[in-house]
Amino acid sequence: MSHSGPKTPIEARKSAALSGRVRVPGDKSISHRALILGALAVGETRISGLLEGEDVLNTAKAMRSLGASVERHGEGLWTVRGVGVAGFAAPSEPLDFGNSGTGCRLAMGAVAGAPITARFDGDASLRTRPMRRILDPLEQMGARSSHDADGGRLPLTLEGARAPIPIIYRTPVPSAQIKSAVLLAGLAAPGMTTVIENEWSRDHTERMLTHFGAEVSSKPEGVHGRRISLKGQPELKGAAVTVPADPSSAAFPMVAALVVPDSEIVLADVMTNPLRTGLIKTLRDMGAQIDELKTRGDAGEPMAEFRVRSSQLRGVDVPAERAPSMIDEYLVLAVAASFAEGTTTMRGLQELRVKESDRLAATAAMLRVNGVKTEIVGDDMIIEGRGHVPGGGVVATHMDHRIAMSALMMGLAADTPVKVDDTAFIATSFPDFVPMMRKLGAEFA
Ligand code: S3P
Repeated sequence: MSHSGPKTPIEARKSAALSGRVRVPGDKSISHRALILGALAVGETRISGLLEGEDVLNTAKAMRSLGASVERHGEGLWTVRGVGVAGFAAPSEPLDFGNSGTGCRLAMGAVAGAPITARFDGDASLRTRPMRRILDPLEQMGARSSHDADGGRLPLTLEGARAPIPIIYRTPVPSAQIKSAVLLAGLAAPGMTTVIENEWSRDHTERMLTHFGAEVSSKPEGVHGRRISLKGQPELKGAAVTVPADPSSAAFPMVAALVVPDSEIVLADVMTNPLRTGLIKTLRDMGAQIDELKTRGDAGEPMAEFRVRSSQLRGVDVPAERAPSMIDEYLVLAVAASFAEGTTTMRGLQELRVKESDRLAATAAMLRVNGVKTEIVGDDMIIEGRGHVPGGGVVATHMDHRIAMSALMMGLAADTPVKVDDTAFIATSFPDFVPMMRKLGAEFA
């Protein structure tokens, strides 16, 4: 999806107390994986609560182009009938993943294990993002790639391996996308495919592979790392998947409720996989009142209901090793840090430079244009919280949904309104964001 039409700016204004109970949309990581594993499995996969954002819809379309049958039966209710491991058909058109690095990179892994050739493409943001980190291990496994641009950027053509080779691969950066691409390619290889990561990244692929019948082992490696091994050529069987609410989307109303005075909201069914809860831990360290009310589990992933009440926050030091468990949440954490009293230092943010935008630069720009003193030192960001935010800035979105949503949350409590130049990209991950936030009391114009 190109979003080539006119820009859709929105201004967020100081709002009265937020209140109410909402369930944010399904988790994006789980939604992509349910479609891709469903497409690689034999039999039917029934998905409920699928995120119907543009990123995931592009993955659904790609799985159809690769030969799976993917059908929507109602809101969030989808079925996939897969083609079996290595059973993909060559697509007649390029696979267009729009804005989504996750959809694109995981699909590359799945295609690398099939004897087909496919062309991969995306929007202007995705075309700037590094793909070498995925192509390197996939080429070791026998796939071949050719690309028009330098450095392995999209658009590119990937030729899957005819006889995939199982490898032992140490990821150069902690990334669930690299890990998942290797494991998905490893499904088609005989023997064991192993991924070693120095920091443990989200493990949804491992959990879902097990849920679909594959044999996966995961053991500690070093201080914070993990060694994950998959037994190749399993018969993946279609399974039922319930998608819990996305903690990365819940992060926006959560932070808004903390900084808008007298707020109290409840967030239902939020996934609490410990590899995704770094933001909640950090906010609690800052003094946030976030109570876990009810906990339950579904299809290998735990979830809970959270009550969030406005809180006087204080600055904290966020250690680098926490980054993988909150990698998508630093923008909105920066908003919380701006309203806190004291300095917040977030360490080890190098991976933020290669997300939907350069989020390190974009976050600093968002804060500075709204009167918050912010410094970037090496890979760390230092924010001087003064208990309130002047606001009044116009924030550049850079085709990045999370910049748009974070800036709007800032405007709900800033002294003067905050404007976002383009909100169209919010539809990639949280299509109902504006109406849902309005329901809680957010004032947008
Ligand atoms: C994701 C992994 C993370 C994250 C992205 C979703 C996933 O990326 O930023 O939004 O679903 O595997 P990296 O693995 O590149 O850190």
